[in-house]
Amino acid sequence: MHRFKDYSFHQLGYGYLLLWCLLSLPSLGYVLATTNCDTTCHCSISENSKETGIIHVRPNCTQGNVTWRHPYNAVRLGLNPLTKGLEFETCVKIKVDLLSVIVYKENSGDIEGMEQLFVIESGKEAHYCNTSTSPITLFIEPVRPQLYTGPPKVVIYYERLELRSEMDPMRECRPCEEEELHKLYCTSDYIFHGVMGPKTTSSEIEIYLTKYIFGDRNAFHRTSRKGPLKAMLVVPEKCKIQRGSGDFLFIARKRLDKAHLTCAPYLSHWKKIKERALETGAMQCAYD
Ligand SMILES: *[C@@H]1O[C@H](CO)[C@@H](O)[C@H](O)[C@H]1NC(C)=O
Ligand SMILES: *[C@@H]1O[C@H](CO)[C@@H](O)[C@H](O)[C@H]1NC(C)=O
Ligand SMILES: *[C@@H]1O[C@H](CO)[C@@H](O)[C@H](O)[C@H]1NC(C)=O
Repeated sequence: MHRFKDYSFHQLGYGYLLLWCLLSLPSLGYVLATTNCDTTCHCSISENSKETGIIHVRPNCTQGNVTWRHPYNAVRLGLNPLTKGLEFETCVKIKVDLLSVIVYKENSGDIEGMEQLFVIESGKEAHYCNTSTSPITLFIEPVRPQLYTGPPKVVIYYERLELRSEMDPMRECRPCEEEELHKLYCTSDYIFHGVMGPKTTSSEIEIYLTKYIFGDRNAFHRTSRKGPLKAMLVVPEKCKIQRGSGDFLFIARKRLDKAHLTCAPYLSHWKKIKERALETGAMQCAYD
């Protein structure tokens, strides 16, 4: 345990020093940042970017992920508002394998005021969400394992959403409107027919797939060899969703690597909407 701690403090001290240098000499920051994270939403920090110093990641996407293999030094993840000065919501999920990490949040860009958020142990994950009008910066520092049992890896999923002051906090709970459904049916990450299973809670719906239409099939799994394909969809707790019987059309989107429910009209209701849309030419895609 002792060696862990020593290493971690040493690393942090080093981090502070470098960060201080970077802040004093802003141009140096560009030399040290050697990832493809500023240009792609799904990026990686590779072993050849083993520069001395902190790795700056400032994603320019609304959502994405960063894979960090053989972590060393630290990653400074800067999440900026989508529009400068406007309020935005950001969520980050960090998953770690074969090492632990310590996650800090910088307050007002002041390193002195760096606040420890959490420690994530090997095989675990943690979330951080916040709303702000100024950039949110997380400082992610690996703690190397004492025993090397395989290649250590950290995966960071992030999302940035614009918040509008007129936005109703219960907006995501209301049923989707007809026109909205036409669009969502054609643009969402997951679309399928299903029924709700008994493991449905106020924060997750269990689904038994009845018909796959579009999306990532990895979202579904079988719990027994001949059993039905099942998936779990995340729902906001505030919506107080309850298990309903019958067939539904489920529309979901991928957020931080999980499927989040967008709408779930009854299948019979959806069939009528779709018929009308096909007649009027309002349907924007040709999924069956
Ligand atoms: C990403 O960067 C490009 C060019 O710098 C810019 O035009 C675009 O608006 C940015 N995208 C986002 C989502 O911030
Ligand atoms: C990161 O996102 C891309 C694109 O969505 C996906 O293909 C990839 O599997 C993701 N990586 C991880 C580690 O989840
Ligand atoms: C969100 O950020 C503000 C300002 O930095 C901070 O006071 C607050 O504690 C943060 N909330 C969470 C949940 O961390």
